[in-house]
Amino acid sequence: MQKARTITTIRAMRTLQQIKAELAELLFEITQETIEFQRTAQPEHGDFACNIALKLASFHKTNPREMAADIVERLKLPEEIGKVEVAGPGFINFTLSQNYLLEALKNPSKLTDCKTEQGKIVVDYSQPNIAKPLGVHHLLSTIIGQSVVNIMKAKGNETISVNYLGDYGTQFGKVICALKNWSSMEEVMAAENPVHKLLELYVRFHEEEENDKKLATAGQEEFKKLEEGDEENRKLWHWIVELSINEIKRVYSEIGGISFDSYNGEAAEEENLPGLLEEGKKLNIFTLGEGGSYIVDLKEEGYETPYLVQKSDGATLYSTRDISAVKSRIEKYNPDRCIYVVDMAQKLHFEQLFATVPKFPWFNSNLELTHLKFGRMRFADKKMSTRKGNILYLEDVVEEAVSKAKEIIEEKNPDLKNKDQVAKIVGTGSIKYGILSQAPETDIVFSWEKTLSFEGNSAPYLQYSYARAASILRQAEIPNDFEFRDLVKEENLLIRDLLRFPEVVTEAAEKLKPNVIATYLYELAQLFSSFYTHCPVLSADEDDKEIRLKLIQAYSMVIKEGLHLLGGIEVPEQM
Ligand code: ARG
Repeated sequence: MQKARTITTIRAMRTLQQIKAELAELLFEITQETIEFQRTAQPEHGDFACNIALKLASFHKTNPREMAADIVERLKLPEEIGKVEVAGPGFINFTLSQNYLLEALKNPSKLTDCKTEQGKIVVDYSQPNIAKPLGVHHLLSTIIGQSVVNIMKAKGNETISVNYLGDYGTQFGKVICALKNWSSMEEVMAAENPVHKLLELYVRFHEEEENDKKLATAGQEEFKKLEEGDEENRKLWHWIVELSINEIKRVYSEIGGISFDSYNGEAAEEENLPGLLEEGKKLNIFTLGEGGSYIVDLKEEGYETPYLVQKSDGATLYSTRDISAVKSRIEKYNPDRCIYVVDMAQKLHFEQLFATVPKFPWFNSNLELTHLKFGRMRFADKKMSTRKGNILYLEDVVEEAVSKAKEIIEEKNPDLKNKDQVAKIVGTGSIKYGILSQAPETDIVFSWEKTLSFEGNSAPYLQYSYARAASILRQAEIPNDFEFRDLVKEENLLIRDLLRFPEVVTEAAEKLKPNVIATYLYELAQLFSSFYTHCPVLSADEDDKEIRLKLIQAYSMVIKEGLHLLGGIEVPEQM
């Protein structure tokens, strides 16, 4: 898989490469690989800084500033660089030329081109356990996972989105038992929402089995019958799975922007398990554990507890199915990488899975396995309203966000057309952005006030900023070309920040942190706001106006693409 390690825009990459070559020629003792560039923190320090003089001076025990000055004096600069300076203890700072910035502005659609990779990546996310409530923690995996897919695609990779459903396991015995005891297929189908009805049955079973040992056993028996192929139970199970998938898809469409290439879950591995167990035992990867169970001994890899793959009663586990799923994915897709977007609580499971699979001969040693962990979702608001008892349905959260967004829009812009459509984009966007603007591995704190705010670091703020740009663009004709002229400060800062987009996406992809993009978009929107305050557009002279319109067009494209990368957040043309 080709990875871009340098932090440069795709365009600037060529320029930096050229400077590297010049530097290496000038300083014959160094090779190009030892030369590094970094983005500067302050715009006054130019665009890129290079510390080669500091390195060399420390090696030769000479003065780094003098060394830097000497280099600057002798260095032949490519025309894309407008200024080079010695700074601080001996950094060499490079500033992109105005021509370079204006040239980039001529072709704004190129600004969002981030393609430097060609990998094939499986992303395993959302993964609800069917026949259990679709809870809010599924929201995290769904939204973070979809972002990873969108980001990896933008980098040029082929992605395969897999919804590894929890579509098998003891919970089905419980639902089947509850269904047979207290309800029927007909009654469930007649309910307003059949899946919610099934969930109610499941919840009731849970409550009653606590005090009724017989019920618990009956549930286990129904599952055993299902495993053994009992016709009626297989039929019920298939029916529940199908019903649930349709319901899950409906909820995804409420969220918007979520889609999968495969819904192959745990059950799809079932038929491969006997073969896998046989293979693992023959190769001594699965060894005998306590009471006739089978384990993978991972002491050498540093794990005291073994990885259990078969219980003493012969039953397989979550772990067994995950090992099998790695094999299936290799056979089916031959990916370069597989990213599992699953909460922190499963850290050990994935470490042990990743330590186990390379022991098999079918494992492709180039396959990179990653567990993208995330924390828990916490609600800052004391009470989340729930419609149905004490279950917080994912759908309820979405619905609440959309209706709250509607209220705000109603108040701010009562004459807006398509209010419902805009409310949906803003409400769902707020949830997505609220999650994705926080580092995934921390606890994700969710507050309505913050996520729906029109002023702070939020989706509505960015969406509003986009709509404002769109409204200006509607009022004028965007020129294809323009005359070059000196840029004023706000224009200069905005273009330079727009050019960082591909680097930001690269960083988000490398670190698997969508929040890097969120932070960038927020800063960018602030620069836009300051530009817009200082630079008149529609009333400006023709020369000023042309460049400014182009700049607004470029801005709207970057914001739109950036939000799309964040779990498919959409932008309204009016708000
Ligand atoms: N369904 C599981 C759960 O909700 C998560 C599945 C994660 N993916 C995987 N390949 N194990 O806990």
